[in-house]
Amino acid sequence: MRLEELHQKVAEASQVFVLTDENVAPLWLSETLHWLGCKSSVDIVIAPGEQQKNLKNTQKIWRTLTQHQADRSALLINLGGGVITDLGGFAASTYKRGIPFINVPTTLLGMVDAAIGGKTGIDFDGFKNQLGTFAEPLDVVISPIYLSTLPERELLSGLSEMMKYGFTHDPNLLKVNKDNYQDYILRAGEIKRMVVKNDPFDEGSRKVLNFGHTFGHAIESYSLTTKQPLLHGEAVALGMGAALWLSVKERGLDVEVLQSYMKQLTVLLSGVDGLPAETDVKPILKYLSQDKKNKNGQTRFVLLDRVGSPVWDVEVKLARIEEALEYILDKASIR
Ligand code: GLY
Repeated sequence: MRLEELHQKVAEASQVFVLTDENVAPLWLSETLHWLGCKSSVDIVIAPGEQQKNLKNTQKIWRTLTQHQADRSALLINLGGGVITDLGGFAASTYKRGIPFINVPTTLLGMVDAAIGGKTGIDFDGFKNQLGTFAEPLDVVISPIYLSTLPERELLSGLSEMMKYGFTHDPNLLKVNKDNYQDYILRAGEIKRMVVKNDPFDEGSRKVLNFGHTFGHAIESYSLTTKQPLLHGEAVALGMGAALWLSVKERGLDVEVLQSYMKQLTVLLSGVDGLPAETDVKPILKYLSQDKKNKNGQTRFVLLDRVGSPVWDVEVKLARIEEALEYILDKASIR
């Protein structure tokens, strides 16, 4: 959508609400409202972090909308990373059966994945994205200007999601690093949009976007119970290592792909202290058992036959899953 069209959508809204967090608000809130042509807004500012993607904050958004008598022509602008766009999208898509929302991702991860594709959600009872909807934003506004204030750890977290597309679709994206990632942002978004267009409701081919995420979500959920929570992309980086290991064992993937990735993993995790030394595979397995792709109690994975040739819904024996987790927890030197 061009800027004039965006201005028009904002002007047409009966009221504009903005959801953002305490880190982003002082840096970007007024500037963003200014260039979106928004003259008045109700701002909802929450604390940062994955722990905020919860029912309490969803209620806070619903309550603010209700208190301001928002009707179905009200607009919610979600300004922030994946937590903000997931949470805001969920609240918007359920308020009065859905009001329009615009995602303005301020993190690399948001720009290449979370803000695109209409998955919304919150965590519940310790499980990631346990409650959610499919609801397409009115628009996703990508501006690299926001990356100028992004902490290095967040940047590395986004690079992991970009590499995911390297494994599943375009090997060029395996070349991303801290110096060249700007050149690949559009390509990553293009792949995401193409995949979502072909399978918007995650019934088949979209599942490949979960490469590394089955392990990743479980590792992330576990880490959130510790004093050293990982960022989403850091957990996915570990998850991709485990998924590559499984791909070598189960699908005959060339072991060099795994070996080469393990060198890059050290860089992707360079901002991480690590999981607690006592980390064991057992609690992580408990989270795997709640993965949304499971069927009849069986955990199913996205694996690779080759780089660019992913397969989904692959069932793997529990002993192998445990081995893959042991491998990644040891090799990543995080315990
Ligand atoms: N992040 C994976 C998906 O949108 O399907």
